[in-house]
Amino acid sequence: MKGGRGMSMLNLFPFLLTFTILSSPALSLSDLILTKVDRRIDLTSQIARISTSLKVENAGSDLVSEILLSFPENQANHLAHLTAKLSEGKGKGKTSGVGLPVEVVHPEGVPSSLTIYSVTLPKGIGKGDSLTLDVLAVFTHTLEPFPEKITQADIQLLLFQESAHYLSPYAVKFQSLTVKLPDARIESYTKLDSAKLQGSELKYGPYENLPPFSYLPIVVHFENNRPFAVAKELVREIEISHWGNVQVTEHYNLVHGGAQIKGEFSRLDYQSRPHVRGASSFRRLLAKLPPRAHSVYYRDEIGNISTSSLWGDSKKTELEIEPRYPLFGGWNSAFTIGYGLPLKDFLFGLDGKRFLNITFSTPINDLVIDTLFVKVVLPEGSKDISVSVPYPVKQSQETKFSHLDIAGRPVVVLEKNNVVPEHNVHFQVYYKFNSLSMLREPLMLISGFFFLFVACIAYVHADFSISKSSASYLAKLQWEEVQATVRQIHNIISRCLITHDKLEASLRDLSRTGDVQACKATRKSVDSSLKELSKELKSLVAFLQSSPQATPVLSKVEEIITKERDLQEKLMAKHSTVVDCYEKKLGGREIENRIASHQQKITALRQEIDDLMDVIDEI
Ligand SMILES: *[C@@H]1O[C@H](CO)[C@@H](O)[C@H](O)[C@H]1NC(C)=O
Ligand SMILES: *[C@@H]1O[C@H](CO)[C@@H](O)[C@H](O)[C@H]1NC(C)=O
Repeated sequence: MKGGRGMSMLNLFPFLLTFTILSSPALSLSDLILTKVDRRIDLTSQIARISTSLKVENAGSDLVSEILLSFPENQANHLAHLTAKLSEGKGKGKTSGVGLPVEVVHPEGVPSSLTIYSVTLPKGIGKGDSLTLDVLAVFTHTLEPFPEKITQADIQLLLFQESAHYLSPYAVKFQSLTVKLPDARIESYTKLDSAKLQGSELKYGPYENLPPFSYLPIVVHFENNRPFAVAKELVREIEISHWGNVQVTEHYNLVHGGAQIKGEFSRLDYQSRPHVRGASSFRRLLAKLPPRAHSVYYRDEIGNISTSSLWGDSKKTELEIEPRYPLFGGWNSAFTIGYGLPLKDFLFGLDGKRFLNITFSTPINDLVIDTLFVKVVLPEGSKDISVSVPYPVKQSQETKFSHLDIAGRPVVVLEKNNVVPEHNVHFQVYYKFNSLSMLREPLMLISGFFFLFVACIAYVHADFSISKSSASYLAKLQWEEVQATVRQIHNIISRCLITHDKLEASLRDLSRTGDVQACKATRKSVDSSLKELSKELKSLVAFLQSSPQATPVLSKVEEIITKERDLQEKLMAKHSTVVDCYEKKLGGREIENRIASHQQKITALRQEIDDLMDVIDEI
């Protein structure tokens, strides 16, 4: 092992140790040999893409139907996407569109620090036959910023570690490696004899006749200021409305995943020379929306952002997203974009089912997504739901309620980690839906308006709105009855008082005319009307006494009635005394003396009764 030459600034020992265990793998997994391996590694963005073309030959006598691919631990942990396709025609011809089935296997004798994937071939490779396999492996978070922390003015430098030899369980006859770097500074690279730098392309090899599990570490240290836009989390909600719209809402929690910024940030420096004083930052992202996207918006916690721009033609709609501040390493930005799409472009019918066919991931270019949730909200009443995604995802279901929903809308929730642009392919959600249930909501609206209309008419024709059976309504009715009764009592007492006045008036007439008979006649009629009134009072008071609602007023009512009786008695006594005096022909002074005590009480009682009448009048 001779890696790390010329890289004195880096201590690469921990990295190299991982592979010393591979030094004696004398195992032979099959009779396959790789006659030619061409590897091309693209490091021009934050995502590392390794394309490998493998010419595989069967040197044994048995049919072989699987090919093994191996990855060291540090790569396997960051592997986001792996496809293997058969190459058609000779050499670097066209690759057939269909990816072959790939799965993790654990063959015996392979060190546990290696992850092995098995590619299943449609037809096996016979004795002496060969084929060419094109493998694409995509890795995230595998370019390490070094140094880890930089200032606003610094460029961003990255480290990438690989093996110059293709790590394979098979012997390799002939191989080469090309590493494509951004057009920028290359700080250093492992200078093996076979290494060659041509412009921004670093080449290793060719190497010939290497045994299985050959490994030769190399490290490249280079400048890369491409936006390291990472969505820690993205929630995409796709809501289907059979009334013609697919509404997409995407909530991003974005971070700059590159070298952390240290020291003060100066906006002034940044604004005067953004390319020098903010080379590692980014301030714009481009989202490619489907054609005919409409009602596009972009907002963050503060509100709509109008500086974003939108343009489009018949093939696409492009939205430029510009956060309120440039993003440096470690900085976050949370925002939402939303857009509507025509239903007929994305919803189709098949065998009595409907299905949504739409892209799975973000429309934003070159974005890495750590955790992606795709939520497909189906119309209420959808049944027999199934999902087809061309790679493994975690699947669950929830229910969403919006206006007028009764049972709620079924929501298919799909979760995937470590998402790269290669995952942005079409997926399908199939479901059954009865068209009649589409009419449910409009019918609900129509009947809703109808009932509102009827209720308005009923309201206009009845002057109360409280339900007749409710307790409060009954209490209200009872209280109204109490009030009416009290008013009647008030009325009767008033009539009693008028009658009293008549009696008093008859005495004044007597003193003027001396007509005792007329006075006695008045007394008689007064007596009988007071009796009548007292009878009327009895039934009313009995009602009040039986009504719990009347408790607060009952004592006042009883008090006034008692006082009125008292007053009556005193008036009668006075009247009798005066008439008696007249019959005995006593003088005026004598009469005054005899009635003086009555008169005092009468005046006091009358005053009290008038006061009580005012109180009762206010009930
Ligand atoms: C934001 O913009 C969208 C689309 O233009 C609009 O529908 C929405 O009302 C706006 N919201 C605010 C808070 O301005
Ligand atoms: C989904 O749409 C894509 C792009 O229009 C198309 O290529 C694909 O065949 C469709 N899938 C299905 C199942 O219809």
